[in-house]
Amino acid sequence: MRNSSRGAVDPFIVMDVMEQARAAEAAGRHIIHMEVGQPSSPAPEAARKALAEAMENDALGYTVALGIPALRARIARLYGEWYDVDLDPNRVVVTPGSSGGFILAFSALFDAGDRVLLGAPGYPSYRQILKALDLNPVEVQTAPENRYQLVPQDISGTDCEGVMVASPGNPTGTMLGKPELSALVDAAQARGASFLSDEIYHGIDYDKKPVTALQVSDDVCVINSFSKYFSMTGWRVGWLVVPEAQIRQVERLAQNLFICAPNASQVAALAAMDAPDELQANLAVYARNRALMMEQLPKAGFDRIAPPDGAFYVYADVSHLTKDSRAFAAEILEKAGVAVTPGLDFDPVRGAGTLRFSYARGTAEIEEGLSRLTAFMAARG
Ligand SMILES: Cc1ncc(COP(=O)(O)O)c(C=O)c1O
Repeated sequence: MRNSSRGAVDPFIVMDVMEQARAAEAAGRHIIHMEVGQPSSPAPEAARKALAEAMENDALGYTVALGIPALRARIARLYGEWYDVDLDPNRVVVTPGSSGGFILAFSALFDAGDRVLLGAPGYPSYRQILKALDLNPVEVQTAPENRYQLVPQDISGTDCEGVMVASPGNPTGTMLGKPELSALVDAAQARGASFLSDEIYHGIDYDKKPVTALQVSDDVCVINSFSKYFSMTGWRVGWLVVPEAQIRQVERLAQNLFICAPNASQVAALAAMDAPDELQANLAVYARNRALMMEQLPKAGFDRIAPPDGAFYVYADVSHLTKDSRAFAAEILEKAGVAVTPGLDFDPVRGAGTLRFSYARGTAEIEEGLSRLTAFMAARG
């Protein structure tokens, strides 16, 4: 059987780290997980209850391709609650995670060979999904002084049919303010490029509120998910907000690519949206963890870090400690029993000198991880 060249994408290194951590655990070691970007909390109780009830009373067959209407309406209402944006529910498309949303959005907006501008460091699957769809990721090295986000000159100076941003971003957790986001949307529109905004970490923010691209323009594609703030990674449910003119195009693709997002997960997601106490309690844990990370990582020797605006990651420059972040992460796993992610996942150019620490787990685990990292760095000298 032949393999396609489109399928020759790089592995997602964090998944490889997870596998190494699993192997160490299977061999009897206790590992602290600072590699995974997922909450350790379950879906909100209300979500689990709603699903249990639905399983008794409903066949849970296919839903319509764009998602359960009540869920689309509730997501539209969220834009009023969070950003004071009046959103037509018809523009909301429920997807199998934001990962499914990327496939749908990229297929709907781009033709084979189109170039999509991305900032590095960034979430690795953007470029891998683009490649698998015969599209061309064009990665721009973003600058620390721009908080590792794209700037309008990156767009005006590069031939591209699409531009993708993430705010808060992964791995940096930095956010784009309204003027910056607005300038990027203008620059993309000026060159006729589609603008995509990954907003999966909205809700997980600390000192200031994130801005949605929908506050700036209706002619954008927003990608979001129940995975992070709503603590539902494995349920595989997310959403897109698309311009009105794209709805039917996206619907036809969704019908054929996925039929629908998992019905059970849509039922649970709808109930999760009305569980603010539990979700805000999760957020309080991340805030506490963030404070611990910012206080103790520098003391341990990881002092080239900036406070993240959102998400649950700290991206550290470790270029003074190693020239090979993959080997360094393996050494930390081996000697300290802490799994962390090498920056190469997020930035093939500069990532050999960076690491990403996730603080999505419970506070006791983060405390233990920090004390192990401190001891490891002290022993390293
Ligand atoms: C920035 C970003 N976008 C998208 C995803 C994919 O999330 P999901 O497919 O679970 O919605 C992730 C996962 O970590 C992420 O960090």
